[in-house]
Amino acid sequence: MRSTSFVLAALLSASNVYAHDPNFAHAVVARQASSAPAGTSSAAAPASGTASASATASSPSQVSVSLISQNPTAIPLSSITANMASSATIALYTTFPAGSTPTALTGVPPLPDASPIIANPALYPPLDKTPPTDSPEVMQWITEVANSGISIPNISVTTAAAACGANAAAAADTSRCWWTCGGCTRDTDITTCADELTWGLTYDDGPAFYTPNLLQYLNENNLKTTFFTIGSRILEEPVILQTEYMLGHQLGVHTWSHPPLTTLTNNEIIAEFGWTKKIMKDLTGVTPNTFRPPFGDIDDRVRAIAQAMSLQPVIWTRLSPTVTFDTGDFNINAGTISSSEVVSNFNAIMNNATQIQTGFIVLEHDLFEQTVDLAIGYILPEAMAHSPKFTLEPVITCQKMPLENAYIETNDNSTHPPFGPNVTSSAGSGSATSTGGGAQSSSTGSSASPLSPPVLGASVASVLVTSGLGIVAAVFSLL
Ligand SMILES: *[C@@H]1O[C@H](CO)[C@@H](O)[C@H](O)[C@H]1NC(C)=O
Ligand SMILES: *[C@@H]1O[C@H](CO)[C@@H](O)[C@H](O)[C@H]1NC(C)=O
Ligand SMILES: *[C@@H]1O[C@H](CO)[C@@H](O)[C@H](O)[C@H]1NC(C)=O
Ligand SMILES: *[C@@H]1O[C@H](CO)[C@@H](O)[C@H](O)[C@H]1NC(C)=O
Repeated sequence: MRSTSFVLAALLSASNVYAHDPNFAHAVVARQASSAPAGTSSAAAPASGTASASATASSPSQVSVSLISQNPTAIPLSSITANMASSATIALYTTFPAGSTPTALTGVPPLPDASPIIANPALYPPLDKTPPTDSPEVMQWITEVANSGISIPNISVTTAAAACGANAAAAADTSRCWWTCGGCTRDTDITTCADELTWGLTYDDGPAFYTPNLLQYLNENNLKTTFFTIGSRILEEPVILQTEYMLGHQLGVHTWSHPPLTTLTNNEIIAEFGWTKKIMKDLTGVTPNTFRPPFGDIDDRVRAIAQAMSLQPVIWTRLSPTVTFDTGDFNINAGTISSSEVVSNFNAIMNNATQIQTGFIVLEHDLFEQTVDLAIGYILPEAMAHSPKFTLEPVITCQKMPLENAYIETNDNSTHPPFGPNVTSSAGSGSATSTGGGAQSSSTGSSASPLSPPVLGASVASVLVTSGLGIVAAVFSLL
């Protein structure tokens, strides 16, 4: 039956391919957005705007930005739009055979062979859906959580894509510490870096078709980052995941299908985390012990389940309801924000970052060409040219921990999960910190619309627009 899902997914993708038109991928995303979380946090949706409405109206206008620096080979800002013609991608500049060990990590097993996974994707759940909770794997993880000694609070699931307005009682219930509606965090949430002027660099939602471009730029500039990867994307791009790991970037979990987690039952959350941890371990030999909640949608129930599965939350810095370190980059592809508005948001974030006593973490994505073009053309060059100087590094090392501590098998088990207040105490958070009083957060100066979940159709469609290999390529990218 899983193969049926794959066939259906392949047919869906193939139909996208026929369009051969970036507008088609755009339409897919916009359609998703219209049923996506209203008021969920990540793009800090104002209660109003719907992505589909604004996406089909006119293009968002460019604003004037002053740039400290840009990549000489950057695509012009005005050309980075929802409907941009896809540019050629580059191949991974390096790959690693099975059996390799990463130079950046000690004590890890040899790199597993990806070919069994590439040959048998039906070993994993269907893409872009919460995995079934009655499989032997998930039932085992449910038992492990029940035996973990962590008690899961009896907090009701949220509805309507975790929108604050539709969940007024939950939003008002501060005992849940629901980040989406008010920005509440716990000591165990990583939201900053220890040292001032230090940026814990993160990219979400990959691995994806343009990730190799980002990897090459990071390598040229001697930078390492944290990738919060989605299980469904990993199944499409297993070799990119292995390459990220082998190059010494930090890997973290970003769920199997990118739902707002507070809307899921306990067992569904376990399935989302468990399968993503499993595919990452199957491909790298190690299991990440951090995760980023999609849309930042986390409350104490999600936290407890994550803790029982040895996953520590990493959100992004939020100073107030109107100062959230979200560039809004995800929404360029949906046509609801312009590239220059994203750069302008980033400039405001850099300005804010120089005024706080900790380092910072910013929400960015490697899912779409637009987000990668902006990162390597503008945002990273701007950050590297900034005065005072920023240090850019993965989240784990910006917590003053070695990269080994980012994985369950190699962490030293003293200062990292199992959790302790020590992990974030240097960043100065309180035991339950709310940085906002409002029921809705909004991103830094942007009017971004609700995020749509990263979708298979869109990413595969853009693969094909670029590769020109037609349906054969579609099926291969799925298998
Ligand atoms: C959990 O809360 C619900 C609603 O408040 C209640 O009906 C239910 O009995 C509670 N379950 C447990 C195990 O306490
Ligand atoms: C953040 O930056 C904005 C403008 O860029 C400014 O108005 C605001 O006061 C800053 N807030 C903090 C906490 O630095
Ligand atoms: C830490 O705990 C994990 C899981 O129990 C174990 O696999 C690992 O070997 C431990 N690490 C060290 C350094 O003892
Ligand atoms: C926090 O650090 C102190 C000193 O290093 C240590 O004794 C204590 O066990 C740590 N607590 C936790 C919960 O890790």
